Amino acid sequence: PEWAHGKWSNCFTTIFSLFPLISMQRKAILAAKPTVKEAISKVCTDLHPQSMVISDLGCSFGANTLLFVSDAITTIGENPNNTIGERPKEIQFFLNDLPGNDFNNIFQSLEQFEQSTTKNCTSRGLQPPPHYVVGLPGSFYTRLFPCNNVHLFHSSMSLMWLSQDPENLDGIMNEANIHIGLTTPPLVTKLYQNQFKKDFSRFLKMRCKEIVPGGRMVLTMLGRNSTDVFSAGGTTMAFELLSQGLQTLVAEDCVEKEKLDSFNLPLYCPSVDELKELVWQNELLDITDIRLFEINGNPNGGSDQSAEDAAAAPVIIHGAAAAEAAGKTISTSLRAVKEPLIASHFGESILDKLFAVFARYFTNCIESEVEKSPVPVITLSLQPKH
Ligand SMILES: C[S@@+](CC[C@H](N)C(=O)[O-])C[C@H]1O[C@@H](n2cnc3c(N)ncnc32)[C@H](O)[C@@H]1O
Repeated sequence: PEWAHGKWSNCFTTIFSLFPLISMQRKAILAAKPTVKEAISKVCTDLHPQSMVISDLGCSFGANTLLFVSDAITTIGENPNNTIGERPKEIQFFLNDLPGNDFNNIFQSLEQFEQSTTKNCTSRGLQPPPHYVVGLPGSFYTRLFPCNNVHLFHSSMSLMWLSQDPENLDGIMNEANIHIGLTTPPLVTKLYQNQFKKDFSRFLKMRCKEIVPGGRMVLTMLGRNSTDVFSAGGTTMAFELLSQGLQTLVAEDCVEKEKLDSFNLPLYCPSVDELKELVWQNELLDITDIRLFEINGNPNGGSDQSAEDAAAAPVIIHGAAAAEAAGKTISTSLRAVKEPLIASHFGESILDKLFAVFARYFTNCIESEVEKSPVPVITLSLQPKH
C-alpha cells in the first residue's frame, strides 16, 4: 500500500508540528528513560548477550532516535555497581521507519554523534562498547527481523499511528471532524478502535517472533487518561483546532464540505486499560511496567527538562503577547515542514489560509482560559513469557 512507501511519513512530522515537535517527543523520551534503563539492565543481567541487538521502531529523521541510542550506550557503559555483570562486547542498533523516511539525515549525523558520545563517555570515565548503527526501512506492522533476533525493542511516539485509515470508514460520515471529535458518530469511533486493536495486535505478534526469549520491549505512545475516547488532552485540542480551521475554510467556500468530511487522520490514542487488554489477549507477553504521564504542551517551552519535569508540570501561558507568540510558533512550525497530507487532500492553495486561521484559533484558545494542555503519554514495558 502507498502507506508503507512513505506517503504518510512527512505527514506524521507535520501533524506533530501542532505541538512543539522536537521538544514534545524529546520530553517523552526523557520521561521514559528510567524504564528503558531498567529494561537494558535486565536484558544484560538475564541474558549476558555478547552481541546485543537493539531496534528503535518509528525512529524518524531527527535527533531523538540518537538520544535513545546514546542513552542505551551510556547505560551499558555505566554498568552501575557492576549490576549488569559482564557487559555486551558490542551493540548493533537497527533504526526503523517507513521507506519514505529521511534516513540520510540520521546517517549524516552519525559522525558528529560518535564524537560527542565518545567525548561524553570519556569525560565520565566510561568505556562504551563498540556499536554499529543501521537503517531499517519498512512498516513495523510487517516482519522486520529474522526469528529470535532482537534483545530490546524500543518505540517512542509512533505506535498511535494506524497502518491505514480505519477499515470500512468509506462512505460513513464523520462530519466536520478530522479525527475522533465531539460530534463523531459512535460507529466511526468504533472503527478507529477496531483498527487500533488490529494493528497493535499485529505489531505484538510480529515482535514476539523476532525478540529473543528474555528480551524486552519499551513502547511509548500518545494515549488517553480515561475511558472517554475524547480525552486525549492536548492531542484532542490540537486536532479540534485544526478541524475548526478547516470548517472555517468550508464556510468561506475555500474547501468543499465533502473533502473535509472524508478526511480522517489515521491515529488513535489508547488508554492504559485498552493496552493491557490487547497484551493479555496476545498471551505471549507479560507487562513488567505500564505508566501514564502527562507532558506539558508549551509551544515555546524548553526541551531539556529532566524526566520528572517532563512528566507533570502544567503549562501556563501568561498574557496576550505570550499567547500570540505560542500561536505563531505552532503555525510557523506547521509551515516549516512540508504538508503533503493536507495539500494532497485539499490542494496547496488552502495552506496559507489554513495555517493563519489555525494560529489565530490556537492563540484565542490559550488567551481565553490560561491554557493548560498536557498531553497524555503511555509507556509500556513488556517481556515474553517463558
Ligand atoms: C511522531 S514521529 C516519532 C519519531 C521519533 N520516535 C521521536 O521520538 O522523535 C512518528 C514516526 O513513526 C513513523 N511511523 C509511523 N507508522 C510507521 C510504521 N507503520 N512503520 C514504521 N514507522 C512508522 C513515522 O514515519 C514517524 O517518523
